[in-house]
This record gives sequence, structure tokens and C-alpha cells, in this order.
Amino acid sequence: MLGNFSYHNATKLYFGDDSLRFLNDELPKYGKTVQLIYGGGSVKKNGIYDAVINILNANGKTVVEDAGVMPNPTADKLREGVKLARDNKVDLLLAVGGGSCCDYAKAVSVSVNCDEDPWDKYFLRFEEPDCEIIPVGCVLTMAGTGSEMNAGSVITNHDQHLKIGHVFGDEVMPKFSILNPRFTLTLPKRQMVSGIYDIFNHICEQYFSGEDDNTSDYLAEGLMKSLIHSSLIAVADPQNYEARSNIMWTATWALNTLIAMGKETDWMVHMIGQAVGAITDATHGMTLAAVSLPYYRSIMRCGLKKFVRFAKEVWQVCPDGKTDEEVAAEGLAAMEQWMRTIGVAMNLRELGVTEDMLEAIADATILLDGGYKQLTREDVVTILKESL
Ligand code: NZQ
Ligand code: ZN
Repeated sequence: MLGNFSYHNATKLYFGDDSLRFLNDELPKYGKTVQLIYGGGSVKKNGIYDAVINILNANGKTVVEDAGVMPNPTADKLREGVKLARDNKVDLLLAVGGGSCCDYAKAVSVSVNCDEDPWDKYFLRFEEPDCEIIPVGCVLTMAGTGSEMNAGSVITNHDQHLKIGHVFGDEVMPKFSILNPRFTLTLPKRQMVSGIYDIFNHICEQYFSGEDDNTSDYLAEGLMKSLIHSSLIAVADPQNYEARSNIMWTATWALNTLIAMGKETDWMVHMIGQAVGAITDATHGMTLAAVSLPYYRSIMRCGLKKFVRFAKEVWQVCPDGKTDEEVAAEGLAAMEQWMRTIGVAMNLRELGVTEDMLEAIADATILLDGGYKQLTREDVVTILKESL
């Protein structure tokens, strides 16, 4: 651990199939008016909405409904949510859904008491909030993003063809999150698998950086092994509570800042994936899956030591009699085999991308420098062509 850092996580978690009742402990800490944020209706079909409403009513809360948060929430929807919160002077934003609802709630939270346009201020100019922030709580229904225990918020602007994430400070983290793995059992298989790959890639983005001997990398390997193990069980038997609970817990630890400690972190798969999402509105985890292997194969030689370690520690590749490059390539081949087994998108065409979109995707890709190779725009175009 050669870096200098401070560590604090501001979110209180309640985990397990009995966890929703702890909403009763949290609600009294906040004022009377709760903005209830949810998506396109899954929570009404599976009964989670009724269960939450009953607890809100029992606690004497006035509920302001904020339905219809779409996957990849938009800047337009954000402006609507801000108006709703302002008009009703809400005291708590309660997100009941996946990462999209949690991210949206955080974006509303920093914008209610701010006069400027939230998209311009936070997502184009990357400014920090300088106003009072409305507290956020989450009842999570999908495992993947880690948004339940981090300060990230990703918003899409279709007019500008941009999808941008802002990682805010501790003050924007959810005050509490309720993680009931049983709530994830109604997810369509494609969403479950997309979430699993999102988790895996969050770990990779932090693992594939730096050269020092770092505890964060050992934690990352443990999380990857648990995820691979549970993903195979969950894909064969989606109703397996034990596997789904491990996946949910792994998702939280994959992106709650812990395994980034002392690391530079890469995030280029996410930058390319988000650009794909900005142009296509495709499911987040699938955009990452479609570009990952061409990306990792293109940088493998620049971070060879770590890719060899990945092959040996995560995929149990035997190094005997092989060159480092062969071992590293075998690790990525094992990862590819796992991706095919769980059923993620293996190329961009599956997500509706055509050759004529590649330049626009490259234009929308933010280039970061924490990974093993600093990409140029041309490198991104090459990776996109190989991902088609
Ligand atoms: O809208 P409803 O009807 O609720 O359906 C949702 C949605 O269609 C459905 N769903 C969720 N829980 C369900 C369920 N269906 C049945 N049963 C359940 N229990 O699943 C669909 C996807 O939901 P969504 O919230 O969009 O998925 P996810 O959790 O993957 O969130 C994606 C968003 O998070 C951002 C992504 O970019 C994307 O905008 N991310 C946020 C991050 C963060 N805050 O740190 C990091 C990530 O890398 C990611 O970028
Ligand atoms: Zn992600």
C-alpha cells in the first residue's frame, strides 16, 4: 500500500431477507415528506412497492410519488424530479429500485437547493455541490452498480449524446440502504446477468492498475472468486437465494470505495461502455461486456505482471512451461469462457451498434489515464471495431 488515503463510508446497510423492517428504524430520523422514487413498475408487480408504502404509512409519512425513472436516467427526468422535490419541500428521497433509481435520487439530492441546471453544473462542469443536500435512502432491488453504498451518479443526456458519471463526496452517499436479496429474485435473467458482469468489471477496473503489492488487489481477487462461483450457480438456478445474496453483497463491496484504496484505478471499460450507452441506451452491464475483451487484450502487454497474476489467482491457470504472455492470454480466454457461459453480450452488434456509429461513440468516450496504457481516440476506435 504505497498510497496515502483516508477511508470512511457514510452509508449504513441493512442486509438479509428480513432487512426491510429496518426502514422503521430509519424513517423517524427524517422529516414528514418522502419522495418515493421508483422505475417502470417492477416494484408494483413484485409487491415491494406495497411493502414500502405500508411502512411509510405506518410511520405517518406524506408520500410524493416519483415514478418512471428509466434505466440510464436522463437529464430531463432529473429536472422533473428536482421540481417535484422543490414543489413539495421533501425531507427524504427514498429510491426503491436498481442503480438507476439510486443514481437519480443522488442527482436530485444535490440539485433541489441549487439554482443552476444540474446537468451543466454536475455532469458537464463537474462542480461539487455548494447547497444543502436532501438525504437519500435506498431499498435496492437489483444487484450490480454498487450505487447503494457509493456517491456515484450517472446521468444520460440524449440530446447531447452523452452519458456521464459524477462521483460526489461522502455527503452524497445514501444515508442508509436496505439490501434484501429476495427482492432481486424477480429480475429477468438478462438483467441479473448484466448486473453480474457490471460487478465483475467494477472489480477489474480497480484491479488492473498499479504495480505495488497492495491489499486491495487481494480483496479484489476474493470478490472475483466469490462472484464467479455464485454467478454459475445463479445462472443455472436463478432462484437460489444463497447465490443471489452473495452476488448482492459482492456488488456492494466491488464499488463502495474499499478496493480502490491505494490504487490509481483504470475505468476505461466504463468510459467506452458509457459512450456506447449514450448512443444506444443499451443495458449498462452489457455495454461493458461487449467491449471488455478487446480492451483487455489490447492493454495486456502493458500490464503483463497483473494479467499473469489474474490468470493464476482468479482463473487457476497453471503457468508451468508457458511464457508470461501465454499465461495472461489463457486467463483472458478463461474469462471469455465464463462470460459466454453466463450469457452476456459478446459484441456491440448485439446491442444494435453499427459501423457508422463508431466515430460518435469514440467522440463520446472520456479518456482517463489511471490504467496500464493511456489510450488515444484512435485506440478507442480500434477497440470499438474489434468489439463489433
Ligand atoms: O424500471 P423497473 O420497472 O423497476 O425495471 C428495472 C429496469 O428495467 C428492472 N428491475 C430492477 N429491479 C427489478 C427489476 N425487474 C424485476 N425485478 C426486480 N427486482 O431492471 C431494469 C434495470 O434497472 P436499473 O436500475 O437501470 O439497473 P442497474 O442497477 O444496472 O443501474 C444502471 C444504471 O446505473 C449506472 C448505469 O450507468 C446505469 O445508468 N451506474 C451507476 C454506478 C454508480 N452509481 O456507482 C456505477 C455503474 O458503473 C453504473 O454506471
Ligand atoms: Zn458499472
